[in-house]
Amino acid sequence: MEQYVIKGGKPLKGEVIIGGAKNAALGILAAAVMTDGVCDIDNMPNVRDTNVLLQAIEAIGATVTRKSANEVAISGKGIHTNGDMTIDDEYIRKIRASYYLLGALLGKYHKAQVALPGGCDIGSRPIDQHIKGFKALGAEVEISHGMISAKAERLVGAHIYFDVVSVGATINVMMAAALAEGNTVLENAAKEPHIVDVANFLNSMGANIKGAGTDVIRIKGVSELHSTEYSIIPDQIEAGTFMTAAAITKGDILVKNVIPKHLEAISAKLMEIGATIEEYDDAVRVVVNDRLTNTNIKTLPYPGFPTDMQPQMAITLALSTGTSVITESIFENRFKYLDELSRMGAQVKVEGNTAIIEGIEKFTSAVVQAPDLRAGAGLVMAGLSADGFTIVEGIQYIQRGYEDFEGKLRALGGQIEKVSTEKEIQKFKLKVG
Ligand code: EPZ
Repeated sequence: MEQYVIKGGKPLKGEVIIGGAKNAALGILAAAVMTDGVCDIDNMPNVRDTNVLLQAIEAIGATVTRKSANEVAISGKGIHTNGDMTIDDEYIRKIRASYYLLGALLGKYHKAQVALPGGCDIGSRPIDQHIKGFKALGAEVEISHGMISAKAERLVGAHIYFDVVSVGATINVMMAAALAEGNTVLENAAKEPHIVDVANFLNSMGANIKGAGTDVIRIKGVSELHSTEYSIIPDQIEAGTFMTAAAITKGDILVKNVIPKHLEAISAKLMEIGATIEEYDDAVRVVVNDRLTNTNIKTLPYPGFPTDMQPQMAITLALSTGTSVITESIFENRFKYLDELSRMGAQVKVEGNTAIIEGIEKFTSAVVQAPDLRAGAGLVMAGLSADGFTIVEGIQYIQRGYEDFEGKLRALGGQIEKVSTEKEIQKFKLKVG
């Protein structure tokens, strides 16, 4: 399996350009099949999750034309309507977000069948709120043999109150409601930037969605959706990850192609612990010269501190002075990586959904295992700050959501390479000395 080998100890300095938002792209790529026209989508992150979803979309007969690494044209015209619109196990097992095709296909064809997504390394990941929304719109939903089947004679708008703020359920039900008859109101909706991006994309196809970005989304169903050209927003979490790269390595990074408003919770926390943040129209600069101080964090739905930045921030605080407390309120199992970080010398204690972190001066290098996407990125940054050679295993997780992660870190002065044999590790060690 591929690994990252890292020679740490150097501050990261320079500029990095942020790609399109993975969690917006996954909803948008699924929504694109809701028209027989052609959707030309630009600024798509070229990562494993988007590429797997494109395979799933092609597998049901949609036309996918890759114009470049980051631009794709999709048409739902060729979708096999005679079948039961099954999204095969292999795709859902690879990425949960294949379940977005449930809402898209139900909305357009009034039927869809998707393999039940499994749990993953950060929690059980139920989908009861998705099902609640589809049923409220008039669909019959059945779970059997590991598959979710949804079908409806008619989809009729409804007033839906989500019991839990859910990004996935908000996007999935919003898609189905876009082509339902009449009006739908989604209450207690998620407000993340990627929700707004998917709503804007659907509106560019002729949908009538208002209020995305607030906790009440109003949707007037339309009869059909048409072609569009769309560019995906920058990735809030990739941007935040590189902001903490400056904090963890005491560097100076200009993070370009961002929407600063989407980064406010992250910027505020970094400033609070002593980082210097300069905000520009579409860039944020993070400068850290001295050891940062402690703080407390509770992850919350947007605009609160994002759960997808929890590992990166914890690793920052593990090098700060004093004691920090992090409460993970979104997922029940998102501290697994702290066992790995302890192997690099971190002083952390987990009690339920709270981590108590005693800051240390420096990590020591080690061989560590990435348990999931964001923690994997965090462990790489920990390796870049530690003296000596660190190996991060399980980098396929990181490649799910970060395009050319090692290339962008190298451009900032990071000494990191993707390797898969002991020989390549030795070669790297000889090269960097
Ligand atoms: C999305 O997952 C993101 N994934 C996650 O990012 C992100 O961590 C999460 O939102 C929260 O922001 C994508 O967008 C592809 P949720 P999602 O539904 O939609 C509970 C990454 O690193 N819940 O908002 O699955 C759930 O258990 C990934 O890019 C229900 O109870 O998250 C959790 O506790 C990791 N019932 C909470 O809601 C449901 O039907 C939030 O989950 C759905 C969710």
